[in-house]
Amino acid sequence: MEIKEGGNGALVLLKQGAEARVFESNFVGRRSVVKERFSKKYRHPSLDSKLTSKRLNAEARCTTKARRLGVPTPALYAVDPVLHTLTFEFVEGPSVKDVFLNFGLNGVVDEERMDDIAIQIGVAIAKLHDGGLIHGDLTTSNMLIRLDTNQLVLIDFGLSFTSTLPEDKAVDLYVLERALLSMHSSCGNVMDKILSAYRKASKQWSSTVNKLAQVRQRGRKRTMIG
Ligand SMILES: Nc1ncnc2c1ncn2[C@@H]1O[C@H](COP(=O)(O)OP(=O)(O)OP(=O)(O)O)[C@@H](O)[C@H]1O
Ligand SMILES: [Mg+2]
Repeated sequence: MEIKEGGNGALVLLKQGAEARVFESNFVGRRSVVKERFSKKYRHPSLDSKLTSKRLNAEARCTTKARRLGVPTPALYAVDPVLHTLTFEFVEGPSVKDVFLNFGLNGVVDEERMDDIAIQIGVAIAKLHDGGLIHGDLTTSNMLIRLDTNQLVLIDFGLSFTSTLPEDKAVDLYVLERALLSMHSSCGNVMDKILSAYRKASKQWSSTVNKLAQVRQRGRKRTMIG
């Protein structure tokens, strides 16, 4: 575990990614998560700094927008444009990835828990999409389950953007579908359950679901070619 000394005490590295590092920290007495975007060495320094700041602000804006749309996200505590960091509330609890992988490991699937999580995922995405927000990285690692309440919390709006196009919404869902198929095959028809909740919750479900069928077709063609 890497320790980094920061302004507010020791930061413990939780995750080192390609474009961001995530630390656990403390923000005025509260357990928090600091997400630091760093530069890509191969980019021009000043261009890079601009891009990094742009993504940082976009992530802050999209997280806040999601929350406004009624989608549970971690509270955003602080934005530091100089250090390129966002400080969030630390959400205590496992990721949906861990919960689903555990279902597979134990061989028994707690259907009730699975259905509850699937419905929450479907409703959350419907709220985002009806509000014109695309998550951009819907994987089960970017979904947490709050320990005390079993509430789904969406994180990682680093690739999010605003759009009302059915195509963008369909691709958002398709990314999740592929992730579920490859990582959580033992969880059966969890995507069907997510989509059925999405249909009930979204006013614009029909154009999105129609597009999703086309996006799947394209995906299949690509797989056949190479
Ligand atoms: N608010 C939070 N509370 C608790 N854990 C968090 C929080 N935010 C992030 N994490 C943990 O840190 C990990 C990385 O965070 P995040 O997904 O935002 O960054 P990332 O570098 O973009 O990750 P990825 O490589 O999946 O895109 C998450 O998968 C999660 O385990
Ligand atoms: Mg992530």
